[in-house]
Amino acid sequence: MNYIGDMRIPMRRVAHSRIREVNWDQLELGTYNSDHMLVCDYSEGRWFGPEIIPFGPFALLPTTLAFHYGQTIFEGMKAFRTEDGRVQIFRADKHYHRYLKSAERLCMPAVSPEVFIEGMRRLVQLDKEWVPGGAGTALYLRPFQIATDSRLKLKIADSYRFAIVCSPAGNYFAHPVRVKVEREYARAVRGGTGYAKCGGNYGGSLYPTQKAREEGYDQVLWTDGVSHEYIEESGMMNVFFVIDGVLVTPPLNDTTLDGVTRDSLLVLASAAGIPVEERSVSVEELREGLEHGRVKEAFGAGTAAVISPIWQIGIDGRDYTIPVSRDGSSVGVELKEMLDAIRYGRADDPYGWNFYI
Ligand code: COI
Repeated sequence: MNYIGDMRIPMRRVAHSRIREVNWDQLELGTYNSDHMLVCDYSEGRWFGPEIIPFGPFALLPTTLAFHYGQTIFEGMKAFRTEDGRVQIFRADKHYHRYLKSAERLCMPAVSPEVFIEGMRRLVQLDKEWVPGGAGTALYLRPFQIATDSRLKLKIADSYRFAIVCSPAGNYFAHPVRVKVEREYARAVRGGTGYAKCGGNYGGSLYPTQKAREEGYDQVLWTDGVSHEYIEESGMMNVFFVIDGVLVTPPLNDTTLDGVTRDSLLVLASAAGIPVEERSVSVEELREGLEHGRVKEAFGAGTAAVISPIWQIGIDGRDYTIPVSRDGSSVGVELKEMLDAIRYGRADDPYGWNFYI
């Protein structure tokens, strides 16, 4: 996709770049931030022009609403450096549409696509030296929006800040993960905010995840918030299983995030002739499938982690190991290769997913 914008965006450049401080072999998400950020403020019923300024602190009063009542949303997307040296952002339009849904759910006004997409393009263009070039690396882009009214009264805010910051990133998880099916705590419930990318969903996940870590797991496999009988997501990612040769992922509803990686994998799998089903997976089906070797693969899928293989699943106190295939081949690896080929410019982009800088 190519978005042509003619908006004027004032830029204030850094006097000295911090890029020499980066250890390109240790790119943990958020360790480094690129030199610049985009900011855009809303008040009195309108957005004021965005500007690109040096990365730095926001001056906010302690009574700023976002600190208290969670009126915050964000997106996570990536810019890739292709082998021939171009830079491209992956599926910016799909991320923008999800941002619109999150903004609506959190009663926030949304910035225009010019600010979100064109603003991001200019920011990445300015900081393009920060887009790493190695395998599995990208410049992670974090658009976010917070309520900035200074008032302790709980109400929909009248003023907001939208911003985009960038962080060069490598692989999110270094190893395949061990997950625990969560039967007590819930990430989301019907009618709640599960489908929105709002800060509270992530804050609320920390305690159950910490408890699972104390038991030796890396992540939880979330189940539905009512019966705890159906699998929904994996940690901060969507989840996929290969059951009887079919790629299965739980369907989208208001408790599940409409993952951009999830959607991309479904498109790529269908195009490659891999049978795909978006359907509910019960804990019982999973247990039975693991016991009888019918579940051949499980993996989480998300922007930060891309595809994160799951090697062991704990269900009600018993651990089930998913054996690695003898020849090392897997649907997850095949799909990741197809996705990377498009994102790193090694393959055609028949879906128009790449947005060139
Ligand atoms: C992402 O995968 O991009 C996310 O937003 C998850 C975040 C916790 C890193």
